[in-house]
Amino acid sequence: MAKTRKIFVCQSCGSTTGKWAGQCEACGEWNSIVEEQDVRHPTGLGKTSGQQARGNVITLSDLEGEEAPPPRLISKINEFDRACGGGLVQGSAILIGGDPGIGKSTILLQAVGNLAAGGIKTIYISGEESISQVRMRARRLGLHQCPVRLGAETNLRDILTTLDKEAGLQVVVIDSIQTMYADTVDSAPGTVTQVRTCAQELIRYAKRRNVCILLVGHVTKDGQIAGPRVLEHMVDTVLYFEGDRGHQFRILRAVKNRFGGTDEIGVFEMTDLGLRQVSNPSALFIGNRSGDISGSAIFAGMEGSRPMLVEIQALVAPSSLGQPRRAVVGWDNGRLAMIIAVLDARCGLGLGAYDIYLNVAGGLRISEPAADMAVAAALISSLSDRPIAQETILFGEISLSGEIRPVAQAEARLKESAKLGFIQAYLPSNIKHKGKSLKFVELDQISNLVDLVAQDGL
Ligand code: TYD
Ligand code: MG
Repeated sequence: MAKTRKIFVCQSCGSTTGKWAGQCEACGEWNSIVEEQDVRHPTGLGKTSGQQARGNVITLSDLEGEEAPPPRLISKINEFDRACGGGLVQGSAILIGGDPGIGKSTILLQAVGNLAAGGIKTIYISGEESISQVRMRARRLGLHQCPVRLGAETNLRDILTTLDKEAGLQVVVIDSIQTMYADTVDSAPGTVTQVRTCAQELIRYAKRRNVCILLVGHVTKDGQIAGPRVLEHMVDTVLYFEGDRGHQFRILRAVKNRFGGTDEIGVFEMTDLGLRQVSNPSALFIGNRSGDISGSAIFAGMEGSRPMLVEIQALVAPSSLGQPRRAVVGWDNGRLAMIIAVLDARCGLGLGAYDIYLNVAGGLRISEPAADMAVAAALISSLSDRPIAQETILFGEISLSGEIRPVAQAEARLKESAKLGFIQAYLPSNIKHKGKSLKFVELDQISNLVDLVAQDGL
């Protein structure tokens, strides 16, 4: 019989070593290496017994016929389906992470409720709430009449037995993977080994029975899904449910998807009656703008393949401090420092002596460099106390030399802006496809923007 070998596994990244160490060489994490039995690769697996190797290998070009696209289960919650890449794929595993209380259980109950109402066999297994709590939530969401099967169970063996007994299941929700435990593993629920074992078993079940499995994952304080990173490698799709506690809107973002595009997002609003999908997010983020106030600029941004207009607000005020204050909400601190430095060095604005506050309205977080121009415009507008005209949008990346660089997907940005009634766009030159309904002002240098504001405002 093959001897099982002892190995040391990093619980953070999953890499293995032959000896224990305080720090993982692969990912740099401290105290993450734990001794495990190497059950995955027992020694002596080098050869298959018998003459022929059993693993079949084929040549790609010999394959004939078209691969059919995987059939999708549609929940009819468009924003949810979109984030999943156009519906749930049977036999796939999806991991949904997010802060506590952000709405993971709510969105999944709504999704399975809708799927069940459409005749798809679904089961929702909660390890965190009792059946009556789930039912109360369903009542609140108006879904208590949907034929969703419910279970409140944490023992993996019992769950797998239950799932095997349910005939014709198509969608399974496990809420959450951190509460589940396998009795074959000698550690507490939520520990890395437990999480990994449970996920492995459940994913194997999903593939074997061609069921779509949705796993809820807790996140750690740095916003990563708790447990080993390998959990994210094991599943087909990873979704993050994000949002700001102080705001109503929530974003379901795909960060990995083997069956669809990543960076797709679904936008929701948390209401008393559960999550309501927001099909026109731009209107949500620029909805309640006040009149002509300096320091506000509208950025035509993209979230994945989706245009989204957001308001960027800046306040520039003379500082009485030796080191002026810089506070940023919703954008990158370093990027703001760079824009300030470029405005100072290339246009001589002298922002160094001012306190600067920057806020992305609505609690959204922007990571696109294309927002540079809108940020610069908001800063210049606040500094000069000249409002930017209400019907104006901006986008463009600013380089360290003060050049304004073209950005991707200009056409989609412009189309969305025109749709929402904007009439003027400040954008980089060299952008080819343009809509017709906007007035374009092409800029090459950031100093052009400063000059325009100094002359008669934007
Ligand atoms: P929940 O789905 O339980 O979060 P998670 O599973 O991610 O921990 O969401 C709970 C929060 O959402 C809670 O603070 C209450 C709020 N909520 C509403 O505002 N309206 C609703 O209809 C529901 C069901 C929850
Ligand atoms: Mg929950």
